[in-house]
Amino acid sequence: MTAPAGVTVRVPAKVNVQLAVGAARPDGFHDLANVFLAVSLYDEVTATPADELTITCEGPDADKVPLDRTNLAARAAELLAARHGISPDVHLHIAKDIPVAGGMAGGSADGAGALLACDALWGLDTPRDVLLEICAELGSDVPFSLVGGAALGIGRGERLTALPVGGAFHWVFAVADGGLSTPAVYGEFDRLTEGVDVPEPTASPVLLEALRTGDTNALAGALANDLQAAALSLRPSLAATLTAGTEAGALAALVSGSGPTTAFLVKDAEAAESVATALTASGTCRTARVATSPAPGATVLPA
Ligand code: C5P
Repeated sequence: MTAPAGVTVRVPAKVNVQLAVGAARPDGFHDLANVFLAVSLYDEVTATPADELTITCEGPDADKVPLDRTNLAARAAELLAARHGISPDVHLHIAKDIPVAGGMAGGSADGAGALLACDALWGLDTPRDVLLEICAELGSDVPFSLVGGAALGIGRGERLTALPVGGAFHWVFAVADGGLSTPAVYGEFDRLTEGVDVPEPTASPVLLEALRTGDTNALAGALANDLQAAALSLRPSLAATLTAGTEAGALAALVSGSGPTTAFLVKDAEAAESVATALTASGTCRTARVATSPAPGATVLPA
């Protein structure tokens, strides 16, 4: 059998429908109860044979994506190759549709996508649990990018339990100008909670039930992000975006992960279109995107 010319993997973005954050741990990370939901905005990572590891990127935000070894896609190829004692000679092309540095795990998606694409290209057939271990090494959100659907992440957010989802949810995402650094947002969370007894993070039973039954109204009432105050403190203009979306008819609004992308849960596809139009017209965001959830995890596309 000859090696395939190239392997393309499609990977979803995520929104955190609940992000409960505990106190800073000695290692600097925070224990989380992180309820991830994959949404239908995707990056595609294509791996093709090359003489050395190189990355290219296309898409509206391509100029904001690092093309060196700091890119999680490059690190994924290196870690996988190292596990198998081979050289990471691959070209990775990222077709980027997920907002960059937006709290939607776009970088993590590219890490998970590159891992799966290289595994297929190199014919390694690495066991799923080893792939998940490598994902956790790459970053706290990377394992979820591989599995998709919905999951509760504990620990740093990397220890996942799949969650049942009983129906489709409709979303609008408002993309802000510029990014927000995840460590900076966690740092601001620490500053804002200084002297406060931060409780152990736990998943909300009401929220898990809303996911299980596909109940949009119940989910709207249960959305929660403990990083929201920190993101708003670093980027106060996000408050106007949240208000614009709710005034346009969204059932609920929250900051997505560490931001600055904001997420709006809406009743149906029609409401998504009208809220997206209103958000774009409001001048409080760069652009607005509609999406549905849940979405499948990293998937090899047919050649
Ligand atoms: O794991 P990842 O590399 O994505 O984390 C990026 C940064 O986000 C960490 O360096 C840390 O500052 C912060 N973080 C955290 N607690 C977590 C996950 C991330 O403090 N559970």
